[in-house]
Amino acid sequence: MKFGFAMRLAAVFTFVLSSGLVLSRTVEQYHLVAPDTQQVISNGGASTHHRRPLPAHLAHPEGSGFQTGFVAFGDSYSAGIGTGFNGKEDDCRRGLGAHGELIRADLAASQGGPNSTAFQFLSCTGATTQEVLSGGPDSQMDAFNTSLPVDFALLSVGGNDLGFFDVMNSCVFRFYNFYSGTCEAALARSQAQIEGDEFAQGLQVAVTEILDAARWEKRPWFRVTVTGYARFFNDATDACDDMSFGVWWNGPRLKKDLRSRMNAMVLTVNAKIRRTVDEINARFTRDKLVFVDYDEGFDGHRFCEEGVSEPDYGRADTWFFLVGAQDNARNGTQSNHASDLETLSPTSVLIDPSFCLEPAQRSGDWGELALCYMAMAKARDPSLQLARGDFVAENSMWYVPTYYGKTFHPRSLGHETIRDKIYEVWRGLE
Ligand SMILES: *[C@@H]1O[C@H](CO)[C@@H](O)[C@H](O)[C@H]1NC(C)=O
Ligand SMILES: *[C@@H]1O[C@H](CO)[C@@H](O)[C@H](O)[C@H]1NC(C)=O
Ligand SMILES: *[C@@H]1O[C@H](CO)[C@@H](O)[C@H](O)[C@H]1NC(C)=O
Repeated sequence: MKFGFAMRLAAVFTFVLSSGLVLSRTVEQYHLVAPDTQQVISNGGASTHHRRPLPAHLAHPEGSGFQTGFVAFGDSYSAGIGTGFNGKEDDCRRGLGAHGELIRADLAASQGGPNSTAFQFLSCTGATTQEVLSGGPDSQMDAFNTSLPVDFALLSVGGNDLGFFDVMNSCVFRFYNFYSGTCEAALARSQAQIEGDEFAQGLQVAVTEILDAARWEKRPWFRVTVTGYARFFNDATDACDDMSFGVWWNGPRLKKDLRSRMNAMVLTVNAKIRRTVDEINARFTRDKLVFVDYDEGFDGHRFCEEGVSEPDYGRADTWFFLVGAQDNARNGTQSNHASDLETLSPTSVLIDPSFCLEPAQRSGDWGELALCYMAMAKARDPSLQLARGDFVAENSMWYVPTYYGKTFHPRSLGHETIRDKIYEVWRGLE
């Protein structure tokens, strides 16, 4: 445990700090030694409250108190939807177990406590590349406070641009029942978007805006770490061929062919992001972007694994959420402290099937979309039967969108793996 933590810390240090923030600092097992000052910073121990001198050109704003900082942009995979929250959840559905939060905790522990690290968590559920860009009502870039220290950025985007919800809805859940459209058509739409130029161009503009806002020329160590997505299914097992995640009775089966096509979509999206990252890097003398492909880390933790009967709500080893499923955060972690039940409380907002679609599509929130499509399906066919009781409770028809929106997103243990994969790639940059 302890050693693992030290290794993680080492990765954060190496990435963030080797490049200039801390000069000639080396890592020795449990201790981060600063040879210049001979001061030893232990990992989370009492001696962490220590201010180290910064080179003048790196000094962060007078009196800000922050030693370091970073920013997270992007979609629900970055926001960590479903991984716990304190108090009221906002519309962006940022979770305490999000990998950005985990990195913040590691960084803060190594830097002198919780107030040493400025973390701007701007990621928002439903965001496309357009919402990362400046301009527009929900612009993440416009919310970016460049007066705060920022030594690196995290970015996860693409799933909403490239039709993940459309495919999930049409091929797996069919929230809008027969009207959801065919799986074939959704996969074809996604493929066309992946092949088009719009996403790559949007990503290029977004990254350029991030680099400029972070004044990369003055911060040679600044990089944007871009994450991909993980395949949802084990597509080799037989048993799932007869199982279904469909919300309405007699939904689509999780046949091997369907699973492998959905997996292929994720791999294609990852390849597209990687290619775009390479293209952007080629414009700089030194790479400004790092792509982290964490897909392999999810091996054995997808849906339809050997011996698993889906939907299996009790399997903590599955790192994606099922509809309304509990999180799998470790005991004692931040995200575990937050009540899962809050996510399950019924919403007082009635979903109006005649008017819900436009706002749901505008937000891009999978949960709002799912709820709206279910309401629309029920309005068109009142006799429609739910496949299982897990989708809605008997006497409270509708739940908050997070209940649905977190589906097919990483649970807390998945975010730990994303964090570890990020550290692994950072270590490889040395
Ligand atoms: C961090 O800042 C908050 C708000 O200013 C303050 O309440 C808290 O005591 C600080 N924590 C530490 C460990 O300094
Ligand atoms: C940006 O951060 C600085 C430093 O903490 C703060 O003084 C300022 O109010 C912030 N600006 C905005 C628009 O929040
Ligand atoms: C967490 O705590 C609960 C209740 O004490 C226990 O049943 C469960 O096994 C624990 N989980 C882990 C992963 O330790």
